[in-house]
Amino acid sequence: MKATKWVVSDKKQKHVYWPSKEMKARAWISSEKVYAEADKNPTQFWGRLAKEGITWFKHWNKTYEWKKPYSKWFLGGKLNACHNAVDRHLETHRKNKVAIIWEPEPINEPTQYITYYQLHKEVSKFANVLKKLGVKKGDRVGIYLPMIPEAQIAMLACARIGAIHSVVFSAFSGESLKKRLIDGEAKILITADGYYRRGKPLNLKSQADFGAKGTKVKKVIVVNRTGAKIKMTKGRDYYWNDLMKTVNSECPVTVMNSEDPLFILYTSGTTGTPKGVIHDTGGYLTQAYWTTKLDFDLHDDDVFWCTADVGWITGHTYSCYGPLSVGATIVTFEGAPDFPDPGRFWSIIEKYGVNVFYTAPTVIRMFARFGEEWPKKYDLTSLRILGTVGEPIDLDAWLWYFKIVGGSRCPIIDTWWQTETGGTLINVLPGVGPFIPMVAGRSFPGIRHKVLDAEGKEVKGKEGYLFQDKPFAPGLLHGVWKNSKRYKKTYWSKHNGEYYDTSDGAKIIKGKYIRMTGRTDDVMKVAGHRLATAELENAINLHKDVSESGVVPIPHKIKGEVPLAFVILEPKAKPSDELTREIISLTRKIIGPTAKPEKVFYVKDLPKTRSGKIMRRILKRLLNNEPAGDISTLRNPESVAVLKSELKKLKL
Ligand code: WTA
Repeated sequence: MKATKWVVSDKKQKHVYWPSKEMKARAWISSEKVYAEADKNPTQFWGRLAKEGITWFKHWNKTYEWKKPYSKWFLGGKLNACHNAVDRHLETHRKNKVAIIWEPEPINEPTQYITYYQLHKEVSKFANVLKKLGVKKGDRVGIYLPMIPEAQIAMLACARIGAIHSVVFSAFSGESLKKRLIDGEAKILITADGYYRRGKPLNLKSQADFGAKGTKVKKVIVVNRTGAKIKMTKGRDYYWNDLMKTVNSECPVTVMNSEDPLFILYTSGTTGTPKGVIHDTGGYLTQAYWTTKLDFDLHDDDVFWCTADVGWITGHTYSCYGPLSVGATIVTFEGAPDFPDPGRFWSIIEKYGVNVFYTAPTVIRMFARFGEEWPKKYDLTSLRILGTVGEPIDLDAWLWYFKIVGGSRCPIIDTWWQTETGGTLINVLPGVGPFIPMVAGRSFPGIRHKVLDAEGKEVKGKEGYLFQDKPFAPGLLHGVWKNSKRYKKTYWSKHNGEYYDTSDGAKIIKGKYIRMTGRTDDVMKVAGHRLATAELENAINLHKDVSESGVVPIPHKIKGEVPLAFVILEPKAKPSDELTREIISLTRKIIGPTAKPEKVFYVKDLPKTRSGKIMRRILKRLLNNEPAGDISTLRNPESVAVLKSELKKLKL
């Protein structure tokens, strides 16, 4: 069903859009009331949602518990995430419904349609494979796969037997993979020979081999995707298909406690090492299910396409657990959005009649640059709702998305959230509105946010720091893998640990609408990908000619932000293009292509604190032609004037 005309409520205020009558009539939630109801007793509200949306083997004894700084949900409750995402649909009309539509990158390769019934078989078989290889409840399994159905199958198979998956983005380097495998102590790694990117088969196995070396990984399972000739290590490496032939499709689900970890996912923080964010089963799944259903007003007959890679949290929640728990049909696409031409995404929407499309602002900006002739070539009238995530969306991108892709019919659901929150937390509900460019929306029902100043006082109508108030969201992280110190320090060290620290800036408008203003720490969003400046600095500092470096994000038309590196060389080294190339290729090797610095500047000195920390804040200000601020506490205040004149010479 298509939404028809939109009503612009306030003619004086531009770009304030409200849901159409049709949208409201169809929506699960069409009234404001839900917010007040939920806020009266958020714990009770989430309890009701968990009961309605999730299948429990045993009801919980206690809905919520807060023991600083850990919150727990549905204590004593028993369930299984795979049972919720797959098995339970088999007893309904969804049994033969398509769960996953997989579009390979090569256009001559056929689409793969996997029904819930078939998904159940594949997942059960693969769970048996894992069991056969000795995987037990609580063991960690590394997944380093491209966007192929085996990725979701592997994740669900882990969930089925209570193993904790740790998915690593396939475009991350072998070095990045290794770090994550070591920290998580994974004993199995699931990977592929390769995948297609812009028409070329890429070799993933060599990266996987590098990553697995020197870790606790004992067995490597390899999906045969491209058929490339790869090196298989005897006794360690097995092809997925060969193993699947050795097992049957009977595999009972393991009964899990609500608070048992479902997965860990590494994400960047302020230090150089990524942290393993832990998500539990019951709370995470409740939030995944309900945010998918309500944010995107997802109904049984919908085809949902979230373009995020499973290597990121958006891929976990909205390309796997959320929509599959709801019982929707999802689209998974292997390749590049503009291959073989910039019409590829739009052709996929037309081909499968996608109703709900969820992507990142960087993708929209890229397509806007290709021109509206590309989406206009395709029938996009199946679209009902458009979502965006990962970084702030600017007015131009918002309007292009709204008008050109959505034909001014579809609301733009701007969803703010984080790896740590497991599911969306700030957005507008499609049946409620209003949809205002650059205003992410309001806190999801049952979630409370506060914008505070540095002293912890609430600020209204002004920019401040965004915190989450109690009761904390069911999907909120349950710790940092093997690092409770870091968990406490990162999220609970301000204001007496009473609020969850998002590290984002925000402003509350009209008492309830929230405008996000960007990260307040040293984390960048490069084309929607999360990256720590310190990770990049560590990589750059590995170069023998580099003495020190400071990385800061600068605005970029398509990618939102890109890293810029200031480098101090060793006394004998000289700047050169060759050296810049070496530094860039080092960041690729250590982290992956997303980390590539846009520019490398060679400088003599960088402003530092007394303890020797590079003041990135000052670097950012100078780049923006702003005054450096108070420099009296620096170890080397004279460096600021030198840097200023160096920057002038660079004509920034
Ligand atoms: C940013 C991605 C503005 C924010 C789900 C957050 C956003 C970080 C939005 C988390 C949005 C995400 N508007 N900023 N709609 N969504 N962000 O962990 O700074 O990769 O803290 O999770 O992305 O990035 P992460």
